[in-house]
Amino acid sequence: MQFVALNDGSSIKTLQIVFDLSKFTDEQLKPVTTGSSIHVQGELVASQGKGQSIEIQARKLEVYGTADPEKFPLQKKGHSLEFLRDIAHLRPRTNYFSSVLRVRHALAFAIHKFFNDKGFYYFHTPLITASDCEGAGAMFQVTTLNLDDLPKTEDGKVDYSEDFFGKMTSLTVSGQLEGELGATALGNIYTFGPTFRAENSNTPRHLSEFWMIEPEMAFYEIEDNMDLAEEFIKYCINYALEHCADDIEFLAEHFDKELPARLRFVVDNDFVRLPYTEGVKILEESGKKFEFPVYWGVDLASEHERYLVEEHFKKPVILTDYPKEIKAFYMKLNDDGKTVRAMDVLFPKIGEIIGGSQREESYEKLQKRVDELGLTGMEWYLDTRRFGTVPHSGFGLGFERLVLFVTGMQNIRDVIPFPRYPKNCEY
Ligand code: 4AD
Ligand code: MG
Repeated sequence: MQFVALNDGSSIKTLQIVFDLSKFTDEQLKPVTTGSSIHVQGELVASQGKGQSIEIQARKLEVYGTADPEKFPLQKKGHSLEFLRDIAHLRPRTNYFSSVLRVRHALAFAIHKFFNDKGFYYFHTPLITASDCEGAGAMFQVTTLNLDDLPKTEDGKVDYSEDFFGKMTSLTVSGQLEGELGATALGNIYTFGPTFRAENSNTPRHLSEFWMIEPEMAFYEIEDNMDLAEEFIKYCINYALEHCADDIEFLAEHFDKELPARLRFVVDNDFVRLPYTEGVKILEESGKKFEFPVYWGVDLASEHERYLVEEHFKKPVILTDYPKEIKAFYMKLNDDGKTVRAMDVLFPKIGEIIGGSQREESYEKLQKRVDELGLTGMEWYLDTRRFGTVPHSGFGLGFERLVLFVTGMQNIRDVIPFPRYPKNCEY
């Protein structure tokens, strides 16, 4: 007998094929190597061996394509994730990545189902844009100008009127501003699409191209926003636990024994809700030596967020009411004049997984903030406040950070088929 483990990509489990050597020659079986593709006909029978309940006793074999074992980079033994990252065009064929990709699919499906069942509309926002939503100044420019021979204006600047769109354009860092237009028309909407950030962040939690989900809800205050965020993320994790049990079990076994317990823990517990000011106080009084200093007004680093979640509360935390200086211009100002109605959801192992806020709906206050920051080209956005403004809120979930959390992988580059990060754009 010779045994072959056949996998069609639909499950972490393989189907055992039994070749009776009295019916098949060595010559016929030789091209059936790791990575080859075959067509088998035979009898599906209860397995006599251990480790599987059924198997196929082969009658007929056709080899579509053999993978030369001398040259095929994937071997039966396990490979390091770093090695596999270098051959990202082949890694979906490994059991690690097929598991991650099936979980990724299930989560994407769960997200659409969650919002559709709640009556939210899937709203498509542009990828090429002339506005900079987050004001971070870390955008990828889109141009058809000849970079070796740029048209110049009289004062020596690049003449963007000659560019494809007649102005300077970039890839979007967020669909939120356009999403707000959708919410003021349809009520509740969500976006789910690619997002681009040109920050030079070489961390296990940043990608240059990632997918973001951004719901935006008319008539929602910050508390409603937090309730939705918590319900949403728990729904997604529950969906994966229910539909990807085999894959999660496999990933837990190989990478992270505590994964199932961590997922259960998040879905079974209420998230802690805490103002930024109190969070900073806890960090200051912790006596812990952080790499980056903590004081009121600082933009918290991942180590601070993780301290609150993993060591202090031992639960996911929603931090609210951040200083206005470290948050985007559109967030609603609190009565103290210093803080805004922001909410970041902080998770174990990940840090920030969701960022959101109640939006400033007052035309006067928003216009004032736009002027203070010297933002231009915002007339279309200000129209949402100028005409029939409405209290509203929304948030953004980084899809890969969710996949990272649910799969227990360590590096965000391992949860997207073709990761983009500084100095890397293969395939
Ligand atoms: O906190 P951010 O920057 O918020 C926004 O973009 C808002 N417009 C969202 C909104 O209110 N509609 O990004 C939202 C989330 C982060 O919490 C994080 O999960 C993810 O997007 N994210 C990234 N994920 C991977 N790589 C990056 N470079 C990311 N930057 C943000
Ligand atoms: Mg954020």
